[in-house]
Parts: sequence; structure tokens; C-alpha cells
Amino acid sequence: MKKTIVLGVTGGIAAFKAAQLTSDLIKKDYDVEVIMTKHATEFIAPLTFESLTKHNVMVSTFEKVADRSVKHISIAKRADLFIIVPATANVIAKIAHGLADDMLTTTFLAASCPKLICPAMNTGMYENPITQNNLKLCRSYGMHILEPASGRLACGDSGKGKLPDIEDIIDKAEELLHTDKPLYGQQVLITAGPTQEALDPVRFLTNHSSGKMGYELARAARDMGAHVTLISGPVSLRLPQDITVIQVKSAQEMMEAVKKEGAQQDIIIKAAAVGDYRAAHISEEKIKKSETELTVTFVKNPDILAMLGERKRPGQLLCGFAMETEDLEENARKKMLEKHCDMLVANNLKVEGAGFQNDTNVATFFYQDKMESLNIMSKRELSFRILETLCSLKENNGGK
Ligand code: PMT
Repeated sequence: MKKTIVLGVTGGIAAFKAAQLTSDLIKKDYDVEVIMTKHATEFIAPLTFESLTKHNVMVSTFEKVADRSVKHISIAKRADLFIIVPATANVIAKIAHGLADDMLTTTFLAASCPKLICPAMNTGMYENPITQNNLKLCRSYGMHILEPASGRLACGDSGKGKLPDIEDIIDKAEELLHTDKPLYGQQVLITAGPTQEALDPVRFLTNHSSGKMGYELARAARDMGAHVTLISGPVSLRLPQDITVIQVKSAQEMMEAVKKEGAQQDIIIKAAAVGDYRAAHISEEKIKKSETELTVTFVKNPDILAMLGERKRPGQLLCGFAMETEDLEENARKKMLEKHCDMLVANNLKVEGAGFQNDTNVATFFYQDKMESLNIMSKRELSFRILETLCSLKENNGGK
């Protein structure tokens, strides 16, 4: 079932950014209910949020609702997470002291779900000891505060008070949405992205992996409570928060990093698209164009997953991936057995919505004795499915 996020929008210049946040949360398949303060409606029209969420935006506590329910209580009960973006000094002062004089603060007081406050205001207002004390009070009640960023503010001043990046707000929100932490205390290693195999100082051989699958897995494992190490090939994705990221280029570098980190891991997931071959010789100078053909000799790269399979210690779980374009079942089974995986996630590049670059994937899970084909879903949702499956494998057999 979809999780419900109640988004409170208050009257600050950053209110317009709440629309982007709403749109991004909806793309991630959350149900978003927006409550605005009256002042917020001076900065951005409720219609914007209504068009995005397909729900009425609540502003007044006294609006009539069709089913005669007490709206602020029913929304508060349904909320899995309450976010206030932007949170002005005024609303922070109110929620710190339990004031409830409008729809937003009333619903906020009634809600018992995790609460995330994202302050955005002028530096002087933010640094004022009154605001700081109010934030301290909010923290003492268990609310989560995302520190504002520093930079040039709308008022022309420079300093702390900018709304953090939307991606950082979403990262924190998703962490809070997964309070049941089945991977709490577990060490999880994930590899992601492509490798680059140099030919000379200018050129390299690579593949189309964007890293999205592996990065979503890393975020999902973090949100489920794990301590995550992400070994990443060269990608242009934003680095996730609260995850140890080791950046590598070539398959050999990835092999070295995995060797170093692998032993202490409880779960290892190899989502990276590792180059199978590298040039036998990397030219120190740029290879010059000539009139004749260029022949490059490639040698095999180490198979990192196979190495992990050989070294797997009792209790450790190993999940491989297989990227296929034909005979998915036969090839995936073979890879799984040869590389001693506990589970393997296969995707066929020729299936629409699967594989490289997309935000979605279409996967088939292979286990020692069975397989399971899944429908198309977001890479984030698939990541949770993979990790939940690994959790139950761990419960059943300890990964041996
Ligand atoms: O990054 P995205 O754009 O989101 O795309 C996601 C993805 C398509 C890259 C991902 O879903 C995926 O399929 N990853 C595995 C790609 C791959 O290399 O598949 P393979 O069938 O060639 O390799 C099988 C397994 O062996 C993989 O777990 C791979 O990481 C591992 N391997 C392969 C070669 C090698 N030298 N060392 C390895 O460890």
C-alpha cells in the first residue's frame, strides 16, 4: 500500500520548492496530502499542489468535508510521515510550543508519525537564539530537523538559511519512512555503475550502466537500517547521504576495493556492470590515428562475483545480477550456480522498461531451487523487494 506523506507548506520564499518536492514524491509513488498556511498561499497557489497530488489542499480548519470526518484528525492518523517545507521561524515557534491555531499546526499536533522539519529563512532569524532554542525543543520532542544549507538567500544576504536540496529532503524522508529496520546493525556492500577500461590517456571501453539500480539498492539498504558501503564505477548520480562511497574506475580497482571490504559484510549485492575485458596494454601516450586498422588485444578481467562466491563465509549472503539479451533463464541459472550466489537478479535488456538507465526494471529472481518473475516496477521498489527477499533468506538458512 502507498505510504502517505503529509506535506505542510508555510509562508516563506522557498514555498515554491515544495511543488518540486511534491512532484518528486509522487513520482516515487507516495500519496501526498498538502496542508498550507494562509501565508503560504500568498507565495504559491494551492491549485499547483492540487494538480500534482489530485487531492484538495487544506488551508482552513473549518472547511466542510464530504464524509463529515474531522479532517485534521483523519489526515493525522493516515500520515506515515509529516514534513514541513519550508518551515518558517514562526511555524517552528508554534510547533515547539504546541500552538494549534490553523489546519497545519492542528494536524501536526494530532499526528504521531515521524516528523521532519526543513527550516528556511533569513540567516539572522535562523541564528537567533530564540529560533535555535525552539529547534532544540522540537528535537527534544523527537522531531527531525534537516539543517538548512548556506548560500545566497532571497533577501540578498549570504549565510545559513537556504532550504536544503530537494534530493536531500527526499533522502531523509525515505529514511524516516522505514522505521521498521530489518537490516539494523547489518553490513551491506553494494557495487554499482559501469567500469572504465582505459586504452590510452584519452579513450576507454565502458558500458551503458547509469548506476541507478545499485544506488537505489544502497539507499534502500540504508533506509532498512544497514550500514552500507557502496563501491561505484564512474556515474553522474548524486552521492547518497549516510553511505560510505568508494569510487573506482576499472574492474581491477573494483576487485581491490571489494576484496578489502568484502570479508566483514553480511550481505553483498553485485549490481555493477563490470567490464569482462580490458586492453592487454594501456598506451602511455594517445594512440595516433593511422591509415590502417587498429587492432587492440583484450585480456579477461577478474570475475569479482566468482571470487566473492569462493570466499563466502558462513552466514554471508551473496546476491549477483545477470544482464541478458537472450536465454535469460538458462544463463542466469548457470551464473548463479557457477558463482555460488544465494540469489540472483536477472534482467533482460530487450524487455521494455528493464535494464540500463531506466528508473524502472523488470526482474526475475533466481534462488537455489526456484525462480520468481516480477512485473515492471521502479528500481527503488525493486531494491526493497531484493533486500526483503535477502532478509527472509537470512532468517531461513543464515546464508549458508
Ligand atoms: O546501472 P543501471 O543503468 O541502473 O542498470 C542496471 C544494470 C542493468 C547494470 C543492472 O540491473 C545489472 O544487470 N547489473 C549486472 C550487469 C552485469 O554485469 O551482468 P553480467 O551478467 O555480465 O554479470 C553477472 C554478474 O557478475 C553481475 O553481478 C556482475 O556484477 C558480476 N561480474 C561480472 C563480470 C566481472 N568481471 N565481475 C563481476 O563481478
